[in-house]
Amino acid sequence: MGNKERWGSGLGFILASAGSAVGLGNLWGFAYRASQGGGGAFVLLYIFIVLVVCLPLLIAEMVVGRSTGNSPLIAPFTAGGKKWAPLGWLFLVVSVGILSYYVVLMGYAGTTLLHAIFGDLPLDKAAASKYFPSISSGSVSLRGQLLSLALTGGVVAAGIRAGIERLTKWGMPLLFLMLIGLAIWTSTQPNAQEGYAFLFGWDSSKLTDPKTISNAFKQAFFSVGTGIGAILAYSIYLERKSPIPGEAVAVVTLDTAVGLIAGCVTFPLVAILGLGDLVGEGSVGTLFSTLPHGLAMSSLGLAGWLVSVCFFGLVYIAAITSAISLLEVPVSSLIDQIGWKRPKAVWFSIALIALIGMPSALDVGFLVKVDSIMNALLITSGMILALLVGWSIPKIFINDLTTAGTPKARATSLLWTLRWITTPAIAIGLVVVIEETIRSWLT
Ligand code: TRP
Repeated sequence: MGNKERWGSGLGFILASAGSAVGLGNLWGFAYRASQGGGGAFVLLYIFIVLVVCLPLLIAEMVVGRSTGNSPLIAPFTAGGKKWAPLGWLFLVVSVGILSYYVVLMGYAGTTLLHAIFGDLPLDKAAASKYFPSISSGSVSLRGQLLSLALTGGVVAAGIRAGIERLTKWGMPLLFLMLIGLAIWTSTQPNAQEGYAFLFGWDSSKLTDPKTISNAFKQAFFSVGTGIGAILAYSIYLERKSPIPGEAVAVVTLDTAVGLIAGCVTFPLVAILGLGDLVGEGSVGTLFSTLPHGLAMSSLGLAGWLVSVCFFGLVYIAAITSAISLLEVPVSSLIDQIGWKRPKAVWFSIALIALIGMPSALDVGFLVKVDSIMNALLITSGMILALLVGWSIPKIFINDLTTAGTPKARATSLLWTLRWITTPAIAIGLVVVIEETIRSWLT
């Protein structure tokens, strides 16, 4: 354990963690969940859950990784003893399950990048309405899935963490700036107001609407990416002295900002381009029915080409840096548990993930189902992780944080939050999410 490699710089860990958080969840996921209604109540609940549930949980996850120095599969066992071992398996199942359709979504983004490069993004409404079905089915979708998975596997196998760090370092700020630029541009267009009214419109009855609550929980967990050991796997290499709470705050703030700003691009565009009927009652295709068409329309000529190529290129980079954190869960576990070499662990994992993901690549309806099951399991896993850290190993939690320089009082209040706010809040969320999932299947 002592001679494990460490993150090159304090910034390296933050970049990798922010790279894991910022991804398709912020763009595709936010557009998908917000399009199902809830308006300002959805946004408020989402922010609230990020702050009181996901942030403390992210800190707990980082502590488990750093203090045990073990891969996600074994860390719960090392930290809390035998009865926590099943949590390690849950980490594995959920990360593989999420990655199985995450790479399909990456395929949609990659295909869109190719369309942008060849200058054939949908220019009119008729083309826009056919666009999402055309990229999300058949051989186009399969090709996107397999290529994205192979690319993710290649990066993880080569262990080119330094390269990814560098890519994240300039890619993320650039994506951020582009989103702000696009948000400003959309705000100057006629009808943008209607989009804001949809996204932020206030109806307090929605605060207790099960569908809105369930969507807010799913969005918060998926976007921050905590609960299944992805960040745990990164924290193994974290310096003893790194101030974990501050780093977690930075990651969560950036991630939430990207989600909200992306929403301020997508929803005004729906109104500006008159795509309301495409997005309808809420659709997985919201982002891909809107942004490609919107960017194709935003400015023509060379500037328009450059904007759309850069934008979808950056989205794809953001997706890769998220996917590698998911793949790191099974890979580091296979290395740690069975003693496989990294490349073997990677190729075995991606072969399995490719097979599991094929039905999602061929059928969007199936992808939606897997997404809803995996989100419920993600929240379940987060719940058990909160119980482990808050109730079974509170001393390890306090010791790890105070050794790294966090004042005792702050560490204690974090533990209190984890025990008395985070845990009950996830319990409530979990009941609502499971109920909603079952209801949506029955109707
Ligand atoms: N947060 C990423 C996104 O928004 C996806 C992701 C990466 C994730 N690691 C995770 C989701 C761990 C759940 C759990 O795209």
